[in-house]
Parts: sequence; C-alpha cells; structure tokens
Amino acid sequence: MTKSKLLIVEDDVDIRTQMKWALANEYDVHLAGDRASALAAFSSIGPAVTLLDLGLPPRPNDPEEGLAVLSAILSQDPLAKVIIVSGQGDKQNALRAVGAGAYDFLCKPVDLDELALVLRRCVYLADLEKEYREIQHGANAEVFEDMLGASPQMQAVFDFVRKVAPTSAPVLILGENGTGKEVVAQALHRRSAQGAGPFVAINCSAIPEHLLESELFGYEKGAFTGAQAQRKGHIESAAGGTLFLDEIGELPALVQVKLLRFLQEKCFQRVGGRQEIPSDARIIAATNRNLQELTTSGKFREDLYFRLAVVVVRVPPLRERGDDMVMVAKAFLHNYAVEHAKPSLTFAPDALRALGAHRWPGNVRELQNRVRRAVIMADGKRVTARDLELTDTLSALPPQTLKEARESVERELIQDALRRHNGKITSAALELGISRPTLYELMEKLGIGREG
Ligand SMILES: Nc1ncnc2c1ncn2[C@@H]1O[C@H](COP(=O)(O)OP(=O)(O)OP(=O)(O)O)[C@@H](O)[C@H]1O
Ligand SMILES: [Mg+2]
Repeated sequence: MTKSKLLIVEDDVDIRTQMKWALANEYDVHLAGDRASALAAFSSIGPAVTLLDLGLPPRPNDPEEGLAVLSAILSQDPLAKVIIVSGQGDKQNALRAVGAGAYDFLCKPVDLDELALVLRRCVYLADLEKEYREIQHGANAEVFEDMLGASPQMQAVFDFVRKVAPTSAPVLILGENGTGKEVVAQALHRRSAQGAGPFVAINCSAIPEHLLESELFGYEKGAFTGAQAQRKGHIESAAGGTLFLDEIGELPALVQVKLLRFLQEKCFQRVGGRQEIPSDARIIAATNRNLQELTTSGKFREDLYFRLAVVVVRVPPLRERGDDMVMVAKAFLHNYAVEHAKPSLTFAPDALRALGAHRWPGNVRELQNRVRRAVIMADGKRVTARDLELTDTLSALPPQTLKEARESVERELIQDALRRHNGKITSAALELGISRPTLYELMEKLGIGREG
C-alpha cells in the first residue's frame, strides 16, 4: 500500500527533524518552514493531513502567520485536514484555529505516541471522506475553483491549473471572449504559493495608451504635469501576489519594452524615476487575439511573447464543451431563479433546443446574461426560447417532426418528475398520471435513468 502523504509545517528545524524521524516509517513526509513553501507544497502534493505550527516566520511568536496558512489551505480545499501544533500555553489560539476549521490540536512538547494516534485517526477519516467525495461526484468532479465543467476539454484545463499553479512561471491564457480566462487566472493565483497575496487585474485595452505606462509602473512626483505626488503602479501593488494582464495583445509598443525588462530583471522604474524597484509579482496574461500572428505582423514583440508564453493554456469555447453547456445553463438557471424568488423555473423543451443550436460567440458570459434576463422575463414555470431571445436560432433549425417534439416534451416532464421525487418511480408515475410499467417503458425508450 502507498503511504499517505503528510505535510509538516514547522519552522524549528529540530522539531521538524524529530517528527520526520518518528513518522517517516508510516507516512510519506514532506516538510515546509514558512507560509510560502507550505502553500506551494500543499497545492503540489495534496497531503492527506497537514501538521501546522502556528508560530511561523517572520513572526514566530504570533499565531497570525499560522492562521493565515490555515485559512489559505481551507480556501483551497474546505475539507482539508489540518492538525495544529501550538506552543506551550497557547491553547487559546489553538482553539481559535479549531474554530476556524482545523481538525484538532496538540500542544508542544508533542508526545509522539499521542501524535501517532491522532494522525492515524485523522488519515482514516480523510481517506473515508475522499472516497465518499469520489463516489458522489463520479471520477470527474464537475466544479473546480468556481468553474463548472465535466467535459474532457474542461478537465484538461483544470489539470493544467493544478499542475502549473504552484510554479511561479508566467502563464498565457488564450480563449475567445467570455470563455472564463479571468476565472482561470484567479484559480492559478489562489492555488499558487502567493495565493494569500494580492490579485491585481488590469485590462490593457480599457486604459488609454498614455496612461497605461503609469498605471502599470507608477510614477514619481513631478514626472509629468499633474503628477503631484508619487504613486505606486499595479506591478508594485501586486508584489507577493499575481498581476493579471488582460487583453495583452493591446499593449502599446513602449509599454511592451518596459514589461519585457521587468520579466527579465524582476525590477522596474517608476515613470520619471531612476530607482530600481523589485517586485516578485507573478505575471499572468490573457488575450482573445492570435498573439503569434501579431508578432509576425510586428505589432507584438517576439521576445516579449516568448517570455509571457512560457506555459500556454487555451480555454475552449462553450460550443466545444459538449454537455457542459446544458449543465452550466441549468446551474445558472438555478442560481438566478433562487435569487429572483422563482425557484421552480426550468427550461422548456424549445429553450433546450435553442441552447444546443446557438453558436455562443460570447461564450459563458453570454450564456450567463441570457439566462439572467430570461429568469426575469419568464412567466410561469418555464423559461422559453423567447425568454432567452433565441427564437432566431430556433427558426433557423430544420422543423421538428411531431414525434421529435413529443419525445422532447416527454423527456423533459419525466426528468423533472423524477428529480422532484428523488428517483422514486411510484410517486413520479403518480404525478405524471401514468402507470409504473408505462413510466419504465418510456424511460427505457427515451434513455432516461432514475436520477433523471
Ligand atoms: N466554467 C465556468 N463555469 C461557471 N461560470 C463560468 C465558467 N467560466 C466562466 N464563468 C463565468 O463567466 C463569466 C465570464 O468569465 P471571465 O470574465 O473569466 O471570461 P473572460 O474570458 O475573461 O472574458 P472576456 O474575454 O470578456 O474578458 C464570469 O462571470 C465567470 O464567472
Ligand atoms: Mg476577461
């Protein structure tokens, strides 16, 4: 059997080594000594259990750093198992940590037998929960960091994020409008070692060319007319975190040079300044344009392109995500319906047909907007193609035969009834006004499972 992974976060080298010796037989032990290395290790190894010392550098006598690690870990994985190891006489803070979601705590000096026992129980529980989660979600969880997606295309994006987030490499995100480039950037940030630091987003096409340089790099007092005081730019504000440069294809030539220099040197100068200012901000860029083409035509520097595109991910358009589209549409419908106090709203068959046939040039954002508007417009319990403003899409489709129309209505009604009755055939059949055998027959014919 493979050993369970254990992450020990402890700044005292002696205690760390002692624990490792005591536990290495039973566990695959990983060590970290501060917040950044702890979070990087947590996202790259995914330990079953984390042992966390509350007093970490730079303030080893203060629990705040440890509590920040705890909260960053729990925001990555709300079910993560963290055992607090607190200093002598620091039970109060240990209890605070348990209140914030830690699994248990031990006080120093740690009794190694007690530690072994608590760990075994905790790992057992973590394994059980993991198994349960996997059964519940099927092998592929459908939600990842605020993104829905069960299609292989989206699972590939999630895998990419899992792998690349813990490195500090620049990432280039490609994708059409509204595909979710910014949510991918946020996921990369949250899962990085600097996940607790700032996430600063700037849209390069929304800021006039002459202001962009000072927005990004800041300026010194007197750098230009109106510069009455020194101001920090986004690169400086994003230190310790991530700078997200949206619509990077629109970056003016002058700013391209300065950004390239920053990527090479990790230093920059404010506008009107001479001082070299360091910033460890990680750069994530996104564009819906073909950057490679822009380099060929000379609009985008090739050397900058290669610096930004160390790793590249393409977020697929909605129309290439198969069944995800309907799943995401239903999720949005549910959320907005609850928000607008119309919780029993569902899609009418013509709406589902239109959703499936539409090209979605605006991708997830367009879907979100159409569904939000439709929920407001819908009368009764059904959202129609008209509510979605997709009647044009519908009329461009080849006409449905009566048989197709009947089957799609039947399918919708049966699925709804099964869902409402949690898959109970008898009560669903009763509600639909048909016999049990007839319902079974229809489910078989229409390819519907008990879960609807
Ligand atoms: N897989 C997803 N599941 C659920 N919601 C999503 C998903 N992807 C994106 N969204 C939502 O869709 C909207 C658009 O996403 P986002 O702003 O990240 O796209 P974008 O590619 O940056 O768009 P643009 O090209 O317009 O800048 C957001 O409200 C986001 O929360
Ligand atoms: Mg965007």
